[in-house]
Amino acid sequence: MSRILITSALPYINGIKHLGTLAGSMLPADVYARFQRARGRETLYLCATDEHGTPTELAAAAAGQEPADFCAEQHQVQHDLGRRFGLSWDHFGRSSSPQNHRLTQRFAQGLWEAGFLEERVTQQVYSVADKRFLPDRYVVGTCPHCGYEAARGDQCENCTRVLDPADLIHPRSAISGSTDVEIRESKHLFLRQSLFADKLRAWIDAKKGEWPLLVTSIALKWLDEGLQDRGITRDLVWGVPVNAFEWGPNPDGALPDIDGLAGKVFYVWFDAPIEYIACTWEWADARAAERGEDPPADAVWERWWRGEAAADVTYVEFMGKDNVPFHTVGFPCTLIGLNETFAGGDWKPASNQAWKLVDQLKGFNWLDYYGGKFSTSQQRGVFMDHALELLPADYWRWWVMANTPETSDATFTWEQFQQQVNADLADVLGNFVNRILKFTESRFDGVVPEGGEPGELEARLAGDVAAKLAELTEQLEAREFRKSATALRQLWVLGNQYLTEAAPWTAIKTDRDRAAVAVRTGLNLVALFAKVSEPFIPFAAEKVALAVGEAYPGRWPDAAAALDILPAGRPVAAPEVLFRKVENDQVAEWVARFGGADAAA
Ligand code: 2FM
Ligand code: ZN
Repeated sequence: MSRILITSALPYINGIKHLGTLAGSMLPADVYARFQRARGRETLYLCATDEHGTPTELAAAAAGQEPADFCAEQHQVQHDLGRRFGLSWDHFGRSSSPQNHRLTQRFAQGLWEAGFLEERVTQQVYSVADKRFLPDRYVVGTCPHCGYEAARGDQCENCTRVLDPADLIHPRSAISGSTDVEIRESKHLFLRQSLFADKLRAWIDAKKGEWPLLVTSIALKWLDEGLQDRGITRDLVWGVPVNAFEWGPNPDGALPDIDGLAGKVFYVWFDAPIEYIACTWEWADARAAERGEDPPADAVWERWWRGEAAADVTYVEFMGKDNVPFHTVGFPCTLIGLNETFAGGDWKPASNQAWKLVDQLKGFNWLDYYGGKFSTSQQRGVFMDHALELLPADYWRWWVMANTPETSDATFTWEQFQQQVNADLADVLGNFVNRILKFTESRFDGVVPEGGEPGELEARLAGDVAAKLAELTEQLEAREFRKSATALRQLWVLGNQYLTEAAPWTAIKTDRDRAAVAVRTGLNLVALFAKVSEPFIPFAAEKVALAVGEAYPGRWPDAAAALDILPAGRPVAAPEVLFRKVENDQVAEWVARFGGADAAA
């Protein structure tokens, strides 16, 4: 049976994430990981904070902290929120970890020695007042394309064009506001992405039909626009240092310019995806430490990533659509550059220990807020900490997964949220579990009853449940989350319909055996729902499983035995209220606090 390696795009360290980030990477990855574990597959789900780059330095400065302290604190905050949201990471790492420093440096060295890195002298904005270069977001000015006056050096927020800091008109420092800036030369390393264009196109072409159309079309658009070589170093202090003094010659016999590269760090988008691999190393180290063992050999974590040892691994990445280019072009260039050589127009394997490229890439559209953007910088929308102040995680998990922005953008409104969680969670699932368990307590002494033979109604139910369960399993396997949520909801509805038709409260008056069959069947449905709902609403699923004495989380059920889970005679007990309804006055209060339809403007 194959192993499953899962990563979700690494959340930036600067600030608590909103529902949009959850919807576009972490939560679907978690649902998929929980499902795969329940299926009995060896699964590794990894995530980490993305800690380098100018946004981090700026956020740390705004908080009056050193970047290292700021990151340590914020990592803890995000880790804690993720845990409270039920994100079942096997490890939540840090892109600033020693493991990632080592691996990023090792990879850069490999790329240099293979001839895929080039030194170039570039024009950079330098602030005389601040006595430093101003890369990326450290410089603001007027966009040369649309005239927007607060464009950042890396990208214009107004027209979304990617910029070079030196292109900005009237540039000024984001640190001091000083306009005393000049252009100075600075040496940087470039990854020669243009060499990889044909290879990447062939790879992406082969994924057409297998990956979501959204993903292949974004990747191909980038390739169609012509692949540019990319600067992978920056004049910054916080980041992975360029350790060029350790490198050997490139294929032309040239050594890097150690002095010219001194004091630089790698660009955040170079080291962040490498953290997917480094996080596996962190995980292996952490597990060894927990057991009081020495750090494990590289082979222990490399078996998820390299060569023959990783041949049975299926690697699945989850991310929002803005991240797709970096994962279909940038990171694959890094890996292919380590795996292969390019000489005289020919590609050849460089090693039999090739690093794995992604097998399945699940990309998402945007989840927005009343038709406008969720915004971290403007604090518009619902953020993870506030969400948990208002309601338990499962409400959010369910709504987000039932509305995953897969084929198009989706929008959050408090009104639709209220309507949907009340209908699905309170009226359908909660009500079903409560009805059958309360009745068992009052009329069957709180035990799964014996007696009676299943009849036509049960035979029909078994057929319907088997079909829906097969659909749910298939959709989850295919990472079609909206369809999965629909199938799950339909399973819950089948339970309610059955109970209404079987009506044990009526049967008990004349035919105890008939009532016993209905109650036993209903309780088995409860046990089934606990198992199949676990990936989506793990906290409620645990309560439901405990109510019918089942081990949690348990194995994914087999369609043939889906209604044959509980032994007769087992004690059961109604759980406390599973889902309270969201009331109108709560919605009014939250709209007033977080913004409603007016917020979109
Ligand atoms: O867009 C983002 O939130 C990035 N921090 C995602 C990084 S994904 C990976 F490459 F690290
Ligand atoms: Zn612009």
